[in-house]
Amino acid sequence: MPAEDADGSLVAISDLHVGYAENRALVEALRPASPRDWLIVAGDVGDTAADVEWALGLLAGRFDTVVWAPGNHELWTPQGDPVTLRGVARYQHLVRRCRELGVLTPEDPYPVWRGPGGPVLVAPLFLLYDYSWRPAGFDTREAALAEAYRTGIVCTDEFLLHPDPYPSRHEWCAARVAETARRLAERDPALPTVLVNHWPLVREPTRVLRYPIFAQWCGTEATADWHRRFDAAAVVYGHLHIPRTTWHDGVRFEEVSVGYPREWRPRGVPPGRVRQILPAPDGVPPTAW
Ligand SMILES: [Fe+2]
Ligand SMILES: [Fe+2]
Repeated sequence: MPAEDADGSLVAISDLHVGYAENRALVEALRPASPRDWLIVAGDVGDTAADVEWALGLLAGRFDTVVWAPGNHELWTPQGDPVTLRGVARYQHLVRRCRELGVLTPEDPYPVWRGPGGPVLVAPLFLLYDYSWRPAGFDTREAALAEAYRTGIVCTDEFLLHPDPYPSRHEWCAARVAETARRLAERDPALPTVLVNHWPLVREPTRVLRYPIFAQWCGTEATADWHRRFDAAAVVYGHLHIPRTTWHDGVRFEEVSVGYPREWRPRGVPPGRVRQILPAPDGVPPTAW
């Protein structure tokens, strides 16, 4: 092992969408640079429980530690999936499978990265969204959703991501936000955090969405100050399929998605590369908002 690899890195990726054969091949080729690397997988691994288990199991066998936070696709109950669980029960099923694979989830004690750039608390979160990122002029959840239907930009979650036993996705989100804030408030305040959530914690990155009305399925106003409140050294997210680095209040936000083949193919950069979170890479462009 080369000396420079001895201490490893905390790296991240998301939106693997392994139902696509080309993306599956990217995961098969994904290997740590050092046996000490930790991998954050920030959701949207795949649509079926079997696909999620396949990818996380493969990666858990290669990386020292794998930390997973669910995306909306993991929480779908798609037709044809032998696992027909919905909502909370489906999430709990995936958490159980992760534990069997040795993958850390939002339900486990937050692990501490002690390699270069550490120590930091790595906190995988599962927060969902609550339709609070509405377009201007649409003051209620109902009005924003009606406008989405009128314009034909409706997230598939409306049909496949069931909130059971909660009455709605936004009420599930509220419960997750409350419980997660409580846990984060109880953390060791001496340690900075790396906050990992499939959906961005602040709204600004959604401003460049092709269809801004889609932002209502992308996060919640409730987390707007979490990167400051919970002392984030970095925030890792995906979901938007717009991979980039931005800075908010001096905190680095990394959108680490792979996305669909039709999205990554035209980019002309090698797809399926992990993003280095810690140690903080040199020369990260300070894209300020
Ligand atoms: Fe995705
Ligand atoms: Fe997503």
